[in-house]
Amino acid sequence: MLVLGIETSCDETAAAVVGADGEVRSSVVYSQIAAHRPFGGVVPEIACRAHVETLPGVINEAMEQAGVGLDDIDRIAVTRGPGLASSLLVGVSAAKALALRLGKPLYGVNHLEGHVCSVFLAKPAPIPEEHCRMLVLLVSGGHSCLLSVESPGDYKLLGSTLDDAAGEALDKGAKLMGLGYPGGPEIEKMAVGGNPAAVRFPRGRPRASARTGGLDSELCFSFSGLKTALRTHLQREFGQGVLPPPEALPDLAASYQQAVVDALSHQLETALQKHPAKAVGCVGGVAKNKLLRAEIDRLTGEHDIPLFLAPMAYCTDNAAMIAAVVAGAGGEVDDDPTFEIKPSWPLG
Ligand code: KG4
Ligand code: ZN
Repeated sequence: MLVLGIETSCDETAAAVVGADGEVRSSVVYSQIAAHRPFGGVVPEIACRAHVETLPGVINEAMEQAGVGLDDIDRIAVTRGPGLASSLLVGVSAAKALALRLGKPLYGVNHLEGHVCSVFLAKPAPIPEEHCRMLVLLVSGGHSCLLSVESPGDYKLLGSTLDDAAGEALDKGAKLMGLGYPGGPEIEKMAVGGNPAAVRFPRGRPRASARTGGLDSELCFSFSGLKTALRTHLQREFGQGVLPPPEALPDLAASYQQAVVDALSHQLETALQKHPAKAVGCVGGVAKNKLLRAEIDRLTGEHDIPLFLAPMAYCTDNAAMIAAVVAGAGGEVDDDPTFEIKPSWPLG
């Protein structure tokens, strides 16, 4: 079985072909980062237009790289949500048209489930019978949460961010420091050689409140205080609206990165104590971060359970993870060619 995946939920236009065994035959990602960089964040109108312009070429390239024709495809998987409405519409409309033309079943996939299923693209991949329940830390630019994968397709939300996502905190922090966009990789680069203990930033630990919406506050995240602490620190040290001098940047970046990673790994540790699991997964754009990967590696080593990290190529948004959901990693899936987009769509 071959699945064509299509992803257009935010600022990456992507298509991929994945086999039933989870083998990625091709994965093409056209990143729009350069188009959004001058604005320091994603501009929905620019994203939507870029998807319209590039998606046909991206799909063709994915087919070419996989060495198959559209008639060889058995299923089509497309991101239905969550994401930017106008961007989601481009992918879903294209997928619907393709499915109709080819007479193939169409599946609307939750983008967050796609991120979770990117662990199944790791080599070796987790074996559900052996490694579930698996705790998955999903950390991206738009979402940060802790999920329990009871079995493929059966997810429980354990904790979530109450304000900014981890990637968003890095992006906003980088902007305040005068670093480029996206901020996560910029902060990681700048932090090399910096002292992570130079500035003591807060590690957001939310208290139980209505904002947790019934979730365990000890498993939730809060990053807005961290960003405010950075702004206050910069104002005090360098003056209102003045960017830090280059020599201050490595320590600032290292300290800020450490605060984000500490918050994530502390809550993961708490989740492991409260919900003992057979394995841990880490997915999403921030899962590319080497310090975070090393910290979770240490943590799972202490608990003596295996760690499955999304492969680097499938951490940030891609279509292989969307196809993987429908190729089997997401358990049973229903085809329904009439679905509408779902810009807001929690998982679990
Ligand atoms: O998963 P993703 O592509 O988009 C969403 O679904 O939101 O994640 C993008 C996020 C951005 O916030 C970016 O700053 C962050 O991932 N990111 C990183 C790294 N590479 C990307 N954060 C920390 N370290 C990195 N190396
Ligand atoms: Zn994503």
